[in-house]
Amino acid sequence: MLLMAKNTDALINARAKTIKTASLSAIKLMNYILDLNYKRGFDKRKLDINLCVENMQDILDKICGSRATIYYELYSGPLNVIATELYIEEILFNLTINSKDAISTEGIITISTAVVNYETAPTVSVFGTVNAGRYCYIKVKDTGCGIAKNIMSLIHKPTFTTKKNGNGIGLHIVFTIAKELSGFVTVESAEQKGTTITVYIPQAADVVAPPCSCA
Ligand SMILES: Nc1ncnc2c1ncn2[C@@H]1O[C@H](COP(=O)(O)OP(=O)(O)OP(=O)(O)O)[C@@H](O)[C@H]1O
Ligand SMILES: [Mg+2]
Repeated sequence: MLLMAKNTDALINARAKTIKTASLSAIKLMNYILDLNYKRGFDKRKLDINLCVENMQDILDKICGSRATIYYELYSGPLNVIATELYIEEILFNLTINSKDAISTEGIITISTAVVNYETAPTVSVFGTVNAGRYCYIKVKDTGCGIAKNIMSLIHKPTFTTKKNGNGIGLHIVFTIAKELSGFVTVESAEQKGTTITVYIPQAADVVAPPCSCA
């Protein structure tokens, strides 16, 4: 209504536009949560994870502001998976926001991507089922407060949060997406040192990219 009123005050107009953008993105998110829960499903297609990260860099940097510097270490070749951009964006958003929240004053977030070959499940905390095969991964590592051992088994549960204004939905979304894409998630964390959360998604079959020697 503010926008329709053709207000001449530039500040009010700018704020009204921000409200409109936020509302539209809230609609997108709600539809997306409904899709996930009611399995309405998305049109998945082959896409390159690296391109998704590159498209998100500006917004992720802005989200972190001066609290955290993000370093990007992207795999040199294409990392094709069968997914939708929205899924990859949600993974990046939620993990980066959590990392930023875990950093109280100043810290570093490293977002990296690569491809690995798994024969057996990794030895760290795993959420989801690991089938042998090649996976592309998105890893978000931070130098934040870390996750206490006694809550590690709770973090994937919807509504679990330790934050005053948290909803406890972010990681649940990430884990649900990983499962939907036949992938899995690993969590490594040390209190006062930081956390590394890695989302593994099966590599699209027709792509030949050499795996790393390590996970
Ligand atoms: N990188 C991290 N460092 C430290 N703790 C984390 C990290 N990521 C998640 N957590 C812990 O896991 C909990 C659940 O995370 P989740 O993203 O699901 O919810 P939230 O961030 O609390 O709320 P929301 O994402 O809905 O705004 C967090 O409240 C926090 O305690
Ligand atoms: Mg969160």
